[in-house]
Amino acid sequence: MRLIPELNSNANALVFGASRGIGLALCAALLARDDVAQVWAVSRNATTATELATLAEQYGDRLKPVDCDARNEQSLEALVSETLAGCEHLHLVISALGILHQDGAKAEKGLAQLTLASLQASFATNTFAPILLLKHLLPLLRKHPATFAALSARVGSIGDNRLGGWYSYRASKAALNQLLHTASIELKRLNPASTVLAIHPGTTDTELSRPFQANVPDGQLFEPAFSADRILEVIGAHGPADSGTFWAWDDTPIVW
Ligand SMILES: NC(=O)c1ccc[n+]([C@@H]2O[C@H](COP(=O)([O-])OP(=O)(O)OC[C@H]3O[C@@H](n4cnc5c(N)ncnc54)[C@H](OP(=O)(O)O)[C@@H]3O)[C@@H](O)[C@H]2O)c1
Repeated sequence: MRLIPELNSNANALVFGASRGIGLALCAALLARDDVAQVWAVSRNATTATELATLAEQYGDRLKPVDCDARNEQSLEALVSETLAGCEHLHLVISALGILHQDGAKAEKGLAQLTLASLQASFATNTFAPILLLKHLLPLLRKHPATFAALSARVGSIGDNRLGGWYSYRASKAALNQLLHTASIELKRLNPASTVLAIHPGTTDTELSRPFQANVPDGQLFEPAFSADRILEVIGAHGPADSGTFWAWDDTPIVW
């Protein structure tokens, strides 16, 4: 499967949220491919992440760890104007950052646990950061086939919400989906070869899901490497005609 439909050169890829979990596994999966030239691996603590250092030992200059807080627009500006100064085009950007119970976010069971602080924390990382990332990377997505894929979550689907709870996380992902769909319409005008996708990676064994894994049925908790492979399959299966859509790890569509 090609990394991106219609791409006929080796890809420059950037993964945001790369220091651990699914983002780290995506970096490893991209570097293992011979149709990927370069991977920028970005997160707040990328340059000190031991797993990324191990990948860098294996892949040398093809992997570039970069520290950047996606909630800070000055850091995003510096990422583009300094770190990516020599890069003409990014063929693939994956936003794999997100929080559920970290950095002030809370996985609320009910309204009584909802606070302004946890709503703000969830929205800052899960919603505002990925769309500001897209805003700042836009000049690098305009010339050739380019895919911007953001890891969303099935629990962000309003149509699929039967259990309730997790107010901040659900709402932040639903709002992310709306922003991605809106951006897909603008990007189509700027670059007809662009694709914007929201992807649910499946429940995956990472720091984000760890406190909630007890109730996951047998066989439904994925290893990050499995999720990463599935995400790249979904990205490879959907080009510009599908821009602005929401997919699960098994390539089935999810209702908004
Ligand atoms: N795991 C699951 O079961 C599951 C299910 C559905 C959806 N998802 C979604 O999949 C994505 C990846 O989740 P995960 O499970 O891999 O989480 P994770 O293991 O906690 O990793 C999150 C990554 O995001 C980075 N990050 C967090 N805040 C950041 C910020 N402000 N700026 C830059 N980087 C930041 C973290 O690195 P630093 O700390 O170095 O910044 C880390 O690399 C998230 O969007 C999540 O909502 C996960």
